[in-house]
Amino acid sequence: MTESLSPAARQDIASHLHPYTNLARHEEVGPLVLTHGKGIYVYDERGTEYIEGLAGLWCASLGFGEEELVSAALEQMRKLPFYHTFSHKSHPPAIELAERLKAVAPVPMSKVFLANSGSEANDTVVKLLWYYNNSRGRPEKKKIISRIKAYHGVTVAAASLTGLPLNHRDFDLPIARILHTDCPHHYRFAQPGESEEDFATRLAASLEQLILAEGADTVAAFIAEPIMGAGGVIVPPRTYFEKVQAVLRRHDVLMVADEVICGFGRTGNFWGSQTFGIRPDILTCSKALTSGYLPMAAVLISEAIYEGLREESRKIGMFSHGFTQSGNPTCAAVAVKTMELMERRNVVEHVREVAPRLQEGLRRFADHPLVGEVRGVGLIGGIELVADKASRKPFDPTQRVGAYCAERAQAHGLILRPMLDTIGFCPPLIIEGGQIDALLERFGEALNETHAWVRKG
Ligand SMILES: Cc1ncc(COP(=O)(O)O)c(C=O)c1O
Repeated sequence: MTESLSPAARQDIASHLHPYTNLARHEEVGPLVLTHGKGIYVYDERGTEYIEGLAGLWCASLGFGEEELVSAALEQMRKLPFYHTFSHKSHPPAIELAERLKAVAPVPMSKVFLANSGSEANDTVVKLLWYYNNSRGRPEKKKIISRIKAYHGVTVAAASLTGLPLNHRDFDLPIARILHTDCPHHYRFAQPGESEEDFATRLAASLEQLILAEGADTVAAFIAEPIMGAGGVIVPPRTYFEKVQAVLRRHDVLMVADEVICGFGRTGNFWGSQTFGIRPDILTCSKALTSGYLPMAAVLISEAIYEGLREESRKIGMFSHGFTQSGNPTCAAVAVKTMELMERRNVVEHVREVAPRLQEGLRRFADHPLVGEVRGVGLIGGIELVADKASRKPFDPTQRVGAYCAERAQAHGLILRPMLDTIGFCPPLIIEGGQIDALLERFGEALNETHAWVRKG
């Protein structure tokens, strides 16, 4: 089967261990080798063009080949390509980035910690919460509540926060003191006839029960993505965050918003927190922070948390956390330029303008026999494929129906991401109306071919 593969693809099989891949299957099918990109398109080594329907991994928000980002990186590399931010050192790009992030934060924030990935940012959050509660003389208040189907990354603590079975299985995770509460997916988990509001009330009550059962004095924080991304683009039911945050306030449990996907305009506001009325004590972001061009992530913390960290570091001598590349100047310069371009080009406005075309277009597939639910907000969407529309019965995962659909989309020049049988849509934010139509048309062909394939058994 590998005879038809290019030399590069064969070398890849021989040498490269791929993340998030069935390694045995990779030896048979090899990689799609991508060589360049422009705007919403990427090109493989044979020159075939694809619409990047997921902005890479939910991140290339300003599209590919953005010269201003390239120039920002080059300029900074010539000036000061690397410097660290440990022990009272700093540099202009890190300072400007922290300032800019504070200025756009959805609620007043005190300080910005810089890291390199969403996982590092969320791992940092776990450590900050523990350190903070030690500073407050509450050594028991350390548990963190996440949700079933959440995605918060893959490092040891972040993968523990993640609520997906394959991120735990055989990795001996989750670690202690991480708990998972209900997934807020109305289509899958609401009771018959239960409204979105009633479902939200029930989930908030269930969260409260969990906090009480564990003991509120042992629970430090609740972490949530405004829209769950990798768990299947799950949009929370109406009133969910309002009710959840009322519970958290009652029990002095902090709210952590993971904005790694939803931040930077994705949902039609700068932050997903603004779209869903979340008032976070801690906020993490990454991905679109540099439009995916270079690794960068940030953790924004409230004044109260900062004060705790400051006092503990005063007491024990050091806040001993940080990465060699925390705030790398080249990455920070690209992040600053990304934020500047978003502002100058009114990218969030643009998302608001074109999002209805994507959302309405996706909803036109709702009647398709293979489609169980269509969901999404702004420029993020998901289409869940089901074996039986009336009973909502999912496909047997071994059938790989979602993966087949994504393969057919790729054959039609559209890269999408299957999350089991939910197909994710998250195009670059610069996508234009006509390009959305092309994306939908290509997906429609893939969906029909998937339906024919399923019917053939
Ligand atoms: C919501 C969310 N948090 C955290 C992460 C982890 O980010 P990274 O892959 O950069 O470690 C992701 C990655 O997809 C994510 O979607």
